[in-house]
Formats: sequence, C-alpha cells, structure tokens
Amino acid sequence: MYARTIFSAAVLFALGCATGEPSSEQRIATGRELYENYCIACHGADGTGGVISPYLAPRPPDLRRIAARRGGVFPDAAVEAWIDGRDPIPSHGTREMPVWGASFREETELDQLTETRVRSRILLLVEYLRSIQIQ
Ligand code: HEC
Repeated sequence: MYARTIFSAAVLFALGCATGEPSSEQRIATGRELYENYCIACHGADGTGGVISPYLAPRPPDLRRIAARRGGVFPDAAVEAWIDGRDPIPSHGTREMPVWGASFREETELDQLTETRVRSRILLLVEYLRSIQIQ
C-alpha cells in the first residue's frame, strides 16, 4: 500500500512533467491514497475521526467541515501550511498532529527535487480534503 502510493505519486509527478498536469480526478485519487496511508488513524476513513482520535487532546476536527467552519470558504494555503507544519502557527498552540512537511522530507531522497516532492504530496492532500467538504 505504502509502496503503491509512493509509486503513484512518482508516476503522477513524472506524468506532470512529461505531459502537462494530471487530471483533477487523478490528483484526488492519489491524495486519497496518501490520506489513507498517513492520516486515517487519527482522522478516520471518512474524515470524522479515526481509531486513536478519542485518545487525543484536542480531538481531530471533522475534516469534511473545514470550509463549513470558515463560512464556506476552503482555505487552501492555511490547510497546506497546517499539514506541512514546519512553520509553526502560533494561534494553534501545541500541536498533536505530526509535522508532515518534516516526515515527508525524511522519507524522500534528499536532492534538489526534495522540496518539490514534499510540496506536491501536501498539495495532493489539500486537493483531496477540498474534495470531501460538505456543508
Ligand atoms: C497523530 C494523529 C494525527 C495524524 C496522523 C494526522 N492528524 Fe490531522 N489533526 C490531528 C489533530 C489532533 C488535529 C487538531 C489540531 C491539533 O493538532 O491540535 C488535526 C488537525 C488537522 C487539520 C486542521 C483542520 C482544521 O479545520 O483546522 C487538518 C487539515 C489535518 N489535521 C489534516 C491531516 C492530514 C492531511 C493528515 C495526514 C497527512 C493528518 N491530518 C494526520 C491529528 C492527526
């Protein structure tokens, strides 16, 4: 599963370079795979909370209502910054959630493309989360 996601992300990255942008459906599907690999334990398959969410304080919020909690606007840049986490957001206080920007960076081969790969994973996650918003 994990290897498959890395493979899909690599294929998407290659496709993006070779033939222009992958379709929005492809990006959302890859974002979902990343979500299933990294986020499901705390946030659940449907975004409403996973198996360990009851043990977390604060509890993970419902990820289908990110926009609803903000007057119907999905804040791409804020969600990206939050998932990345390397730039601390003072108003959030202490953080229960892992710093994905750092984890993805550790998993990726360190070269000139490292930041591009880290960012593309985070953007795929943002796009997936955007796709699951409900009112
Ligand atoms: C170890 C548990 C854990 C994991 C794993 C986790 N999260 Fe979270 N997440 C949280 C918690 C707890 C919060 C609430 C804020 C905090 O950390 O204190 C949160 C908050 C968020 C928010 C903010 C929502 C809002 O309305 O402000 C987003 C977006 C998010 N997580 C996305 C993700 C994504 C994407 C992944 C996988 C790459 C992920 N999370 C993995 C625990 C987790």
